[in-house]
Parts: sequence; structure tokens; C-alpha cells
Amino acid sequence: MSDQKSQTQKKGVSSLWHSLVENKTSRRTLFKGAAVAAAGVAMTTPLQLRSANAAALNSSAQTGAAQTPELFFTPLAPTTEDALVLPEGYSMSPLAVWGDELGGELTVGYNHDFTAFFPIDMLTKGYDLKAPHRGFLRTDMSSTDGILAINHEYVNPMFVGEYAGEGEKSAEQIKLEQENVGMTLVRVTRAEDGAWSIDPTATKYNRRLTALTPMILTGPAAKLDGGPNVVGTLGNCSGGVTPWGTVLSCEENFQDYPIEAPTGYGWDAETYGKRHYGYIVEVDPYDNKSTPRKHTAMGRCRHENVAIRVGKDNSVVAYMGDDKADSCVYKFVAAQKLSPAKDRAKNLKLLETGKLYVADFQNGKWILLDYTNEPLLKDAKDAEGKPLFTSQADVAADIRAAALAVKATPMDRPEDIEIHPLDGSVYIALTNNTGHGNFHGQIVRLQEENDDPTALTFGWEIFATGGPQSGFSSPDNMLFDGEGNLWMVTDISTSRVGSGIYSFQGNNAMFFFRTTGPDAGVAYQFASGPVHCEMTGQCWTPDGSTMFLSVQHPGEESESIDALSSHWPHGGDEIPRPATVAITGPWQ
Ligand code: FEO
Ligand code: CA
Ligand code: CA
Ligand code: CA
Repeated sequence: MSDQKSQTQKKGVSSLWHSLVENKTSRRTLFKGAAVAAAGVAMTTPLQLRSANAAALNSSAQTGAAQTPELFFTPLAPTTEDALVLPEGYSMSPLAVWGDELGGELTVGYNHDFTAFFPIDMLTKGYDLKAPHRGFLRTDMSSTDGILAINHEYVNPMFVGEYAGEGEKSAEQIKLEQENVGMTLVRVTRAEDGAWSIDPTATKYNRRLTALTPMILTGPAAKLDGGPNVVGTLGNCSGGVTPWGTVLSCEENFQDYPIEAPTGYGWDAETYGKRHYGYIVEVDPYDNKSTPRKHTAMGRCRHENVAIRVGKDNSVVAYMGDDKADSCVYKFVAAQKLSPAKDRAKNLKLLETGKLYVADFQNGKWILLDYTNEPLLKDAKDAEGKPLFTSQADVAADIRAAALAVKATPMDRPEDIEIHPLDGSVYIALTNNTGHGNFHGQIVRLQEENDDPTALTFGWEIFATGGPQSGFSSPDNMLFDGEGNLWMVTDISTSRVGSGIYSFQGNNAMFFFRTTGPDAGVAYQFASGPVHCEMTGQCWTPDGSTMFLSVQHPGEESESIDALSSHWPHGGDEIPRPATVAITGPWQ
């Protein structure tokens, strides 16, 4: 979602994070502690802060530093064209467009975000339990036949129900809105001629989760507000995949829905339990009769994303961010270890029980959010002097308040988090925080002590900094490839994109970064999105031959249905339609 809808700017809130960043910058501070024994990547020289600019590259060339390797694509110049522009040799085709038929009454939802591709043969081939993140990078599983999961974050009432913006919505308009959020699960196949298409006959797999689908809460806060049986999922932004073949969908801006904004969409607030949204929702894409589960042990906040890493001892750890100004980064350590692939039923329970930690970047440590053993949680009071928490259920249902009570580090809107597939370091996109003068954001890199995801201490540094000097602003979703390169998309909010201090970037875009070598941290533009969109949720097929990518809210600033700012993807006089596209080309 564009940050214009989600920002609650609080000028004057602690600028601890900014002093930490400045400190890193001025001291060129290196990793603290972390003795990195990286598999396949020499990490003996920690990264220095990089502004990711060409000037730095030129100066290293002049001093005879290592030669920058040649890129495999010609980077784009920024553009404001109403098109999904790619480098020469790459092509894209819209695959799942808002409104496309999925069989029966089902249609593809609105405002696509996270995507994940599940090879149709994953469970029978024996999936890779150690896969550290969403990229399988295996060639023995299908890269031409699978289930594509797509999040649908929110609706634009003007397009979805043709609501003119005044007066009450009809029951039909509200129902359309409720049915166009949530998630699409659809079988997709690639023909011999290379073309991708959705299969509307795949009734065994095709499914829509909406704001009305029955779901269940698990964990300490499951019984709050009439749980555990709850209605629907809301604000499905980014997400993650598990090594046991499920998709995790993150409920982000639930506050825009009736729960906290009764007049927001005009929906019936009674339908929606107050603390039933803001969770990580686990869905089994291989069983379209399964009930989606919201894991309260992983906490309730504006969950943007989740990235899972399995430790050497089979510990299962999930990294998560709370996308709100001055909010924190968390990790969840499951109580049980990963079981062998044949015990999938056990693994499906892993995220129901565990320990939740929040990051203290000042001291490089993880703080446990445990009501029973943490005096700061027991002592925390609200403005009226009443206890903020009386149980772990209360803590789980408001982890932002808990994080602040234990003095974790408020940060500049953590969006995506991804784990480097070769060295295990954790990349965090901090998109911006205009209330503190951080207009363009950073990408931060965190390394756990001894490369152990369950460690209680970590080191960190800045990987790249947004701004005119680096060419990008407002980093959001990230994806690694098998070589450890990072593919990042930006989310300059619709009201700002292409103008003022953001004009240097043109439309929202995708950037490619190497993470090692002389140009590590330098941003090369790979794609430019249509007018007033943000691109989101990129993922690979297992062999890395196709990248799926969502285009969210094209034409969002359109004044009316008759005055459109974008006609993507169909062109002509057509209304803009969010879509997930398939991109192919010579990836390396
Ligand atoms: Fe939905 Fe924080 O992006
Ligand atoms: Ca996002
Ligand atoms: Ca991601
Ligand atoms: Ca964003």
C-alpha cells in the first residue's frame, strides 16, 4: 500500500534510529560481534556503508580497485511512461489481472501484492527443508506448472464498485469490495511456446480468500474478542513461504478497515472482531479446503512481511517487520524444531508456539517479549495509569506497545525483510520516515552472532541508502536470486511519485544490486512501472527462469473513472487494472 494511507506521522518521536545511522555512517562502523562463517561467501571484510553511487565506483576504479563485473542487462533510465518497461531482451505478459476468471464464480482480486509460486510437484519431490527463503532455486521441481498465490491488499472503491465517493454504498458495492481483498490461489502453467496462463479448470487448487472467508486464530491471543473462529483476512500486503510448502500472508493496514475506521470503507464493523486482524496468516496452497490460520504467537501489528530461516540444528526462525513510522523488527523462534518432510503435519503446527523477540539496534540484541518473565511488560502503564498488559495474550495482541515498553528500537517503517541465500544475513528495507526527515529510506543488513538465527545478539550495517545519489527512493519488497543478487522494488507514495524531491526516479521502479564485489550496494534500474503504481511481490520459479511481479494500484491518482491517469495493462480508454505479470529473459 502507498504509505500515504498508512502513515501516522509523529514529529518529535525518538530519533534514536537516526543517531544510530549517523553513527554508523561517520564511523564506517563494521559488524559488531558476528564472526561470520558464511557458506560460499567470503565475509572477512565486512561491508562498509555505501551510498550506492556511481561516483564511489569511479573513485574505486581510479585507485585500481577490483574491476566492476559487467552487467547482464542494460540499466534503464528513469521514465514516467504508462508502461511496464524492461531492459532489452526481457518481456512480460499479464498473467492474473483483476477480474480474470478462476472457474465457477471466482475472479482474481484487486491490488495485487505478494506472490509465491508453489511447484505442482513440490510435495511429491520432497521439498527442500533447509531452503532459507522463498527462492527454491532447484531445477528438479516444476518451473512450468504450479500454484501461484497472490495477496490483494486493499480496494479502490471507484474502480471495484464504481462508487462515486459520495453517499452510502449499496450492499452490492460493499460485497464486491469484501470479495476483492484477501488472496488468490490459482494454478498457472507455461506452454511450450513459453506463454504463461491461468487454468480456470483447476478446481482442486483454485481458491479465493476474502474478507468473508472463515479462518481460525492459533496461539496465546486466540480467544480474544470472541476468537478463535474469525471472519476473513484484511490488508494482505507482503508475505513469505515456509520450507514445508505453505504461504504466509501478512495483514498490514487493518486499521483502514472497519475495525479501527468504522467509516473507512462503510462496511459493517460488527462483522469484524477488534483484535482478529494484524496477524500472519498461514495457508496451505495444496489443500484448498484447509482453514487459513492466523498465528497470534507471532504477534499482532502492521505485519508487512515474514522471512523464514532454518538453523543448522533445524530451529525455525521467522523475521518480521511492523510497517509504521517508528516501529520495530521482530523475530519468532518456533518452540519445536523442523521435522522431516514426511512429517508435514507436524511442521504445519510450527508457527503456533514459540518465543517472540524484538530488535534493539543500539545494543545489538534481541529482547524477549515474555509477560511472565519481563518486569517491564508487567510494569507498563497506559496514559491513565492502567496496566497495558495482564497476560501474554495482551502482549501478543499489541506487540508494538510491548516493543516500546521493553525499549526496543523504533525504526523508519520496516517493509520487506529477506534472507541472503548464501550468507544468511538479514536484509531489511526501511522505506522512509518523512516525520524524521528520512525521505528516501535505507536497506539495512543484519548478521546474527555466529550465523545462528536463534542468537540473542547481532551486528548490523547500512547496505544502501536511498536518494538522488543512488537513484532510488523508498525501498519496499526485495527478492534474492540464487547468486545472492538483490532485486528491490520501490514504493514512493502515489501523491509524491514523479514530483518534487522524488522526480529523479520517475515512476516506481525495480532495482538490481549485487551484494558482494566492488559494486555491492550500487543500484541498477531493471524495470519501471506504469503511472501511479507501485510494483510488489516479485518471486521466482524454482529454476529462476520466470519472475512473477505484481503491479499494484496503477492509475491510483485518477480523478474519476472519466479522467484516468493510467490505462495499464490494456491501453486505449480502458480503466487501469492491477495484475501479476510473468517476466522472462536472459537473467544472467
Ligand atoms: Fe503494504 Fe507496507 O506496504
Ligand atoms: Ca509493501
Ligand atoms: Ca520479499
Ligand atoms: Ca510501502
